[in-house]
Amino acid sequence: MEMKKVCVLGAGLMGNGIAQVCAQAGYDVTLRDIEQKFIDGGMNTIKKNLGRDVEKGKMTPDQMNAILSRIKPMLNLKEAASGADIVVEVVIEVMDIKKKVYAELEEIVPKHCLFFTNTSGLSITEMAAVTGRPDRFIGTHFFNPVPVMRLLEIIRGHQTSDETLETAREWGKKIGKDVIIVKEAPAFVVNRILCTMLNEAFFVLDEGLASAEDIDKGMVLGCNHPIGPLALADLVGNETLLRVVEGLHRELGDKYRPAPILRKLVRAGNFGRKTGKGVYDYNK
Ligand code: CAA
Repeated sequence: MEMKKVCVLGAGLMGNGIAQVCAQAGYDVTLRDIEQKFIDGGMNTIKKNLGRDVEKGKMTPDQMNAILSRIKPMLNLKEAASGADIVVEVVIEVMDIKKKVYAELEEIVPKHCLFFTNTSGLSITEMAAVTGRPDRFIGTHFFNPVPVMRLLEIIRGHQTSDETLETAREWGKKIGKDVIIVKEAPAFVVNRILCTMLNEAFFVLDEGLASAEDIDKGMVLGCNHPIGPLALADLVGNETLLRVVEGLHRELGDKYRPAPILRKLVRAGNFGRKTGKGVYDYNK
């Protein structure tokens, strides 16, 4: 069956990027969030990203307008998800909230609709179990910034069907991503390694071994990383990183204990670039 309409739930950092790449691939997209300011923020980011491509001569203004016309921002869940072939859920990384959204969705979407969850590390199987379609449920984990990062990590839940896996794989290719298929486990593959490294950088900072700038410089120049681990944590969002590390700690034990300074930053509301302050101050 041809998939035409994609509903993206959540217009934040990841959601607006997913909506953009889907519209660029020709899908009709609805982009839904719970407050107008989130929708406006998401649409502004998409316009800014596409505008940059126009300035660089990578696309024409007409192409940009055609892409934008395929994205319909909205607040109403029923309107956004009705008739969707695929729902990509990008709501906050809290299991109970995600489950609540799926219970609501179940009443709205057509029977054939597939549920793709963009989670940094929560159990696909647990979310799928509250829907009436665990066979049509799969994890699609994107990386920030979505339009730039090539990887899509696809995670199969316990009851995900082969057909859903193949459709997700094809969809990933169509939206320009390289796909890896991984088994379900806490934080999957990439975040298990990456977030553990970022957490370790916070321990190193806590122990006063070097300044934040020098820790980042060390990893950029010494390991050829495009950006240092503390700067990357600010890009990802320290609150998101903490949630992933807490999940690893809960499920896999003390080796994954969150660094105290990471907790402190999150308690202070210093989430990173999105709040203007994290490890670094972006207001300066
Ligand atoms: N949105 C869209 N495009 C962006 C962008 C954004 N937010 N930020 C940068 N770009 C584009 C720029 O326009 C530029 O495009 P061109 O090559 O066409 O000119 C390109 O990306 C490079 O950008 P810059 O020259 O401005 O800056 P840079 O070279 O320092 O790259 C970066 C910026 C791409 C973010 C780079 O630092 C990088 O790759 N960092 C690592 C990112 C990473 O590891 N992401 C994964 C995070 S983990 C995650 O997301 C999963 C999770 O669940 C926690």
